[in-house]
Amino acid sequence: MSGFSADWLTLREPYDLRARSREVIAAVAASVAALPSVHIVDLACGTGATVRALTAHLPSRQVWRLADNDLGLLGRASAMALADNVKVTAIPLDLDRDLEAALDGAIDLVTTSAFLDLVSKDWLGRLTTEIAARSIPFYAALTYDGRIDITPNDPAEASIVAAINKHQGTDKGFGPALGPEAAGCAIAGFERLGYAVTHRQSDWTMGPSDRDIQLEIFSGWAGAARDIGALSLAEAASWLTRRRASVAAGTSSLRVGHVDLFAVPTGRR
Ligand SMILES: C[S@@+](CC[C@H](N)C(=O)[O-])C[C@H]1O[C@@H](n2cnc3c(N)ncnc32)[C@H](O)[C@@H]1O
Repeated sequence: MSGFSADWLTLREPYDLRARSREVIAAVAASVAALPSVHIVDLACGTGATVRALTAHLPSRQVWRLADNDLGLLGRASAMALADNVKVTAIPLDLDRDLEAALDGAIDLVTTSAFLDLVSKDWLGRLTTEIAARSIPFYAALTYDGRIDITPNDPAEASIVAAINKHQGTDKGFGPALGPEAAGCAIAGFERLGYAVTHRQSDWTMGPSDRDIQLEIFSGWAGAARDIGALSLAEAASWLTRRRASVAAGTSSLRVGHVDLFAVPTGRR
């Protein structure tokens, strides 16, 4: 499965949903509760996971614009079943090139999920500036923050985690990616622009019965560690074999650190 394939996004969605901070969602909901209808732009929407996670928490009349550069994912997002009062429109665009076009028109809330760690410091600066210029609240869920805890422990883990975090910093289409630095940079950036930011950890937690997702994650990480040149092919393969054996034996658990944040303009700049 590739990093953004529909199969991978479907596999991870229940873990994402469980991990999302209830307190941050409550803050998002409170900020728009008084509006008769709400206009939302979801950046890098994938198949529409943020719509599914948020729709029950927002005023009943919702107009969503879903932006992504993957037409296959956008097609799935547009086809999702929703209540009559929730409208979605797909906007195919490259957010690196055309961010400003995604933010055109009346918007009450901008959202994103599993995305900020992919972008560069410059692009994040552009995003915070554009959002603050329009005084729009911003909700970003599930930004990877560099923390990984795998049970049982393995001697190769420290090098694997270091390699994954190095790989996180490689270019994902927006210049060198912020990876684990992204949430901290976003929080500091919005605070500098006069926003109040609520943020909470939103970690993935997977237990021994969550076999498919652990197998998928471990195989992706072994590939990333190999690609970045931190481990030889033999070392990466041997680590992956040990991890697969733990999953098969029903002894493998995993925690992956994420951060959810909600930034709201205070009018003080
Ligand atoms: C990890 S997925 C997250 C998808 C969705 N937000 C979710 O939580 O399931 C990252 C998303 O970013 C989108 N993406 C990556 N680069 C992009 C770009 N340059 N312009 C628009 N979308 C992009 C991918 O197509 C993918 O849908």
